[in-house]
Amino acid sequence: MGSEAWFPVRLTGERVILRRHVPANVEAFRRWYADPRVARLTRYQDGPMRPIEIERFFLSRVVGPDSLAMAIHLKADGRLIGTCAFSQLDGDNGSALFHITIGEIDCWGQGHGTEATQLMLAHAFETLHLHRVALSVFEFNERAIRTYLRCGLLIEGRAREAIWRDGRRWDELTMSILGHEWAARRSAAAEQPAQEAQAVAPGPAQGTRPATRDMG
Ligand SMILES: CC(C)(COP(=O)(O)OP(=O)(O)OC[C@H]1O[C@@H](n2cnc3c(N)ncnc32)[C@H](O)[C@@H]1OP(=O)(O)O)[C@@H](O)C(=O)NCCC(=O)NCCS
Repeated sequence: MGSEAWFPVRLTGERVILRRHVPANVEAFRRWYADPRVARLTRYQDGPMRPIEIERFFLSRVVGPDSLAMAIHLKADGRLIGTCAFSQLDGDNGSALFHITIGEIDCWGQGHGTEATQLMLAHAFETLHLHRVALSVFEFNERAIRTYLRCGLLIEGRAREAIWRDGRRWDELTMSILGHEWAARRSAAAEQPAQEAQAVAPGPAQGTRPATRDMG
């Protein structure tokens, strides 16, 4: 597989577009990772990264030749709002770890993290043909856990009381999704519009019924 497939130039969604990072993005990283609200959710250490740590992180893990990191931009106006990446890409076992940070806090909770995660999972399973994508998340990070569950990741493990935050100990969860689970979700999603079309098609005896997503 060519390196362009491993390191895509862009991954395009409905509302976000993922692009390769450029050196100027370090400015945004300086702001995001110096913010205690971001640090609380993403760091094992108490408190935000120091400026020198942010520079090192950016050079080695974001724009480094081996990093599969993508900048998250809003499609509407191009605004840079975050970053996501695979690390520990393991070709022998077909696995990788996923990371995501929407650094612009006013953009939390609007579906962008879900869409960026889905784009990266599609890349992992449909282009790279990985077998497994996993991640770690602190149990108090409810927004992140909901995002990952919505994308099809399952909670598979729990490191008990691994993290000290806000004056108490919390578990660290491991979540993962396998290639066949992703494929099954894709086929189910592809079948849904067909079922809805059938539901609205006028039948000989029933006439026209409204489409519905509720199956129960
Ligand atoms: C975690 C993160 C990527 C999620 O992206 P997002 O764009 O904010 O989230 P989305 O809008 O796509 O989805 C949020 C989900 O959490 C829910 N949610 C929103 N605010 C919430 C809150 N305060 N508490 C719990 N759930 C919340 C939403 O309802 C939605 O779930 P649903 O689709 O089942 O309704 C983003 O918030 C982020 O980067 N946070 C800071 C860094 C971080 O935590 N990174 C992950 C480390 S593992």
